[in-house]
Amino acid sequence: MTGSTPSSVLTTTQRKDVLMRRGIIALAAAGLLAVTGLTACGDDDGGDGGSADKKPKIGVILPDSKSSARWETADRKYLEEAFKSAGVDYDIQNAQNDKNAFQTIADQMISSGVTALMIVNLDSGTGKAVLDKAKQQGVATIDYDRLTLGGSASYYVSFDNVAVGKLQGEGLTKCLTAMNKTKPVVAYLNGSPTDNNATLFKQGYDGVIKAKFDAGEFTKGPDQSVPEWDNAQAQTIFEQMFTTTGGKIDGVLAANDGLGNSVINVLKKNNLNGKVPVTGQDATVQGLQNILAGDQCMTVYKAIKKEADAAAELAIALAKGEKKDTGKTVKDVEGNRDVPAVLLEPQSITKENVKAVVADGFVTKAELCTAAFAAKCTEAGI
Ligand code: BGC
Repeated sequence: MTGSTPSSVLTTTQRKDVLMRRGIIALAAAGLLAVTGLTACGDDDGGDGGSADKKPKIGVILPDSKSSARWETADRKYLEEAFKSAGVDYDIQNAQNDKNAFQTIADQMISSGVTALMIVNLDSGTGKAVLDKAKQQGVATIDYDRLTLGGSASYYVSFDNVAVGKLQGEGLTKCLTAMNKTKPVVAYLNGSPTDNNATLFKQGYDGVIKAKFDAGEFTKGPDQSVPEWDNAQAQTIFEQMFTTTGGKIDGVLAANDGLGNSVINVLKKNNLNGKVPVTGQDATVQGLQNILAGDQCMTVYKAIKKEADAAAELAIALAKGEKKDTGKTVKDVEGNRDVPAVLLEPQSITKENVKAVVADGFVTKAELCTAAFAAKCTEAGI
């Protein structure tokens, strides 16, 4: 804060103005404003929490480290980079799928003086409790990746999750068609029933595949959700699906790469890997390797750097008591509320364009192209 008028000699309005301009300059310097095209729309000390008088500090609670590799390998890394380059104080913790720990971490963050709190809820109930408490204490909040139904977050930053599901539905349809399967039996292995995203993904893929069922082109197979996206449970569930259908499953819509890999494990035991197309999401190293091996039909790449940058930009603004216009809202049907939102576009990945994920810096060639995959990587142009 060198070279500027001491805040103490300014009127409140002048002080707010100076702080807001400093905020915008800092964001512009960090290159964050350019990322999403968000516009500053004036400072705000009322209602949304955050305070221009407190030292900005951002708390982030990630959900777990098992339901997807992304939380620790991508989200944490990119959020950290964004906070560091903007020079703000931050604290990123992981609740490891423990709802009590989630609440405790939030309490600690609030009492340690965070001015903005970003959460990936474990379910809407616990998420709402944390958001409401933060709001009461004047802490601004963001729903990161998962919308908390009935919640009170000031912003929601995610991908267009119905579009994610649509890509999965289209991807599976393409693979089944390419394999010339007649009236294939399609099974659904959905995400956690308490994750609003899982509902949106299903809306997306069902929107594509239901028409095929209705037209008699595909046959509807088992359809089950996986509690907490648990990969081990997913494997048990799929084993049961496989047994009860007498092995008559021709394609599997698995909602993410972890669930997809559980399905592939069962298919491998039955020498059916590569013969039954399986979908995924997150472009994890494991998912991409399954694609290169020919065991997985596709995944969905979500450029998490963009998601983290957009959320960090908003969190920094809120932490400083500023407000931004995202130009878009999503409906929280449970709270009957329009939540200002940033929704990014997902991308479909098949063997043909796995290299795009490497080119984007999301996974490295070293991580992906281990000895067992070196030849496949060369074939895929990586
Ligand atoms: C995220 C996915 C992730 C899943 C399990 C969802 O809410 O959007 O990217 O695979 O949770 O962690």
